[in-house]
Amino acid sequence: MRFFIKSYGCQMNSYDSQRIGDLLIAAGHEPSSSLDEANLVILNTCSIREKAEDKIFSDLGRLKIIKEKSSEKFLITVVGCMARLRSAEIVRRVPYVDAILGPGEIHRMADIVEDISGDKKKDVVVSVSAAAADKFSQLSDKFFNRSVSEFLTVQEGCNNFCSYCIVPHTRGREFSRSVSDVVREAKKLVSSGVKEIILLGQNVNSYKGEGRDGKSRNLAFLLFELAAVDGLKRLRYTTSHPKDADAELGRAHRDIEILMPFLHLPVQSGSDEVLRRMKRPYTRAEYLKCVDTMRGYRPDMAFSSDFIVGFPGESDGDFQQTLQLAEEVGYALAYSFKYSPRPNTAAALMKNCVPEEVKSERLRVLQTLLDKQQSEFNQSFAGKHLNVLFVKKGRHKNQLVGRSEYSQAVSVCDNNISIGDVARVKITGMASHSLIGTVEQ
Ligand code: SAH
Ligand code: SF4
Ligand code: F3S
Repeated sequence: MRFFIKSYGCQMNSYDSQRIGDLLIAAGHEPSSSLDEANLVILNTCSIREKAEDKIFSDLGRLKIIKEKSSEKFLITVVGCMARLRSAEIVRRVPYVDAILGPGEIHRMADIVEDISGDKKKDVVVSVSAAAADKFSQLSDKFFNRSVSEFLTVQEGCNNFCSYCIVPHTRGREFSRSVSDVVREAKKLVSSGVKEIILLGQNVNSYKGEGRDGKSRNLAFLLFELAAVDGLKRLRYTTSHPKDADAELGRAHRDIEILMPFLHLPVQSGSDEVLRRMKRPYTRAEYLKCVDTMRGYRPDMAFSSDFIVGFPGESDGDFQQTLQLAEEVGYALAYSFKYSPRPNTAAALMKNCVPEEVKSERLRVLQTLLDKQQSEFNQSFAGKHLNVLFVKKGRHKNQLVGRSEYSQAVSVCDNNISIGDVARVKITGMASHSLIGTVEQ
């Protein structure tokens, strides 16, 4: 069949979608670059906020019309976090869906497609119970269509149960892949042309994978192992939890040349009272100390973060502390969201909900500050040099676009540079979301 995968949500879903694609190609199906040409649609879904779920239900409504009009067999499958969380509701509201698979079951995709593509009308196939641990050993060992920079999931699931978060309910408990499994996959990626690997985990720095000697190994250990992979030019990892950002990780940043000096370290709030109710196990002071420790090992370390505004009971004073914390850290990049109550989470039962218009206003104020910090960060490189890994062609002739150490998009016009090269670039200007430069010979 001709398949089209649409991913919602986080990078872990992008990784899973890629692995689903590998499985389907290996089974003889053909990837299609647009929905219009496909006859098998896979929605890889997310439940992190209510809006994400609403969007998926509305996309399913549009797919129903396409399915009804289609002159050939047209299959719709729903996979990922929302599939696991809401399978019964999906079957009830969207009975024309052909299969529903949870994030721990994606390795079954090729078999399921085989099953549902037959002539007989089948009931919806629902398989949502397995945890992530089962899937990795059963995914395809063939990789197709890799680019210069790719994700590699090393840890999945979460034991933290932050009071607002649905992830422990969708991805299950923490599971780490073994060191040898990760290194094997990294080597395969590099031999398919990948130059930068971004390790993924809901809490990537609580990674505890089995080492070759049977001992449990942490993320710093894994990073040193991966740094030895021949041909790998860059390493990154995300998302880190502040409770596990320790000195050992700092030393990895100091000692591993290919490990980029950029850390996504979500704080969520700058108020101790809100952090306590969010069940984030650190105080504002501890978070700031963690940032300092990392800067002690890598003075050029830049930070990004996630914030939630309008958590139940968040006062103006609490919100001011969030703004002050952001001022103190000076983020290179940050994502901020309005709190969205999630079913069966502790926060969904909390009182003192913040009115919608207050949430919107706080989000606006915070985003204005974070945008200003991002552009100040970018401006601080005017006339300076950045090392850029070139990842794709730009829109103009001879233009290439790459990423700096700090993940900034940088474009150059130069015909001596190729995709996959790392070059020293002098920054000569700024566009709205990127830097412009010239390659230093
Ligand atoms: N594991 C990561 C985050 C995963 S979810 C961590 O612990 O930081 C990505 C981001 O979505 C979170 O950092 C948080 O900012 C946001 N988020 C999670 N649940 C949310 C909710 N119920 N409402 C609004 N934002 C939420
Ligand atoms: Fe969600 Fe908290 Fe786990 Fe992050 S650490 S995935 S926010 S429960
Ligand atoms: Fe969404 Fe699941 Fe990721 S809920 S943010 S796709 S872990």
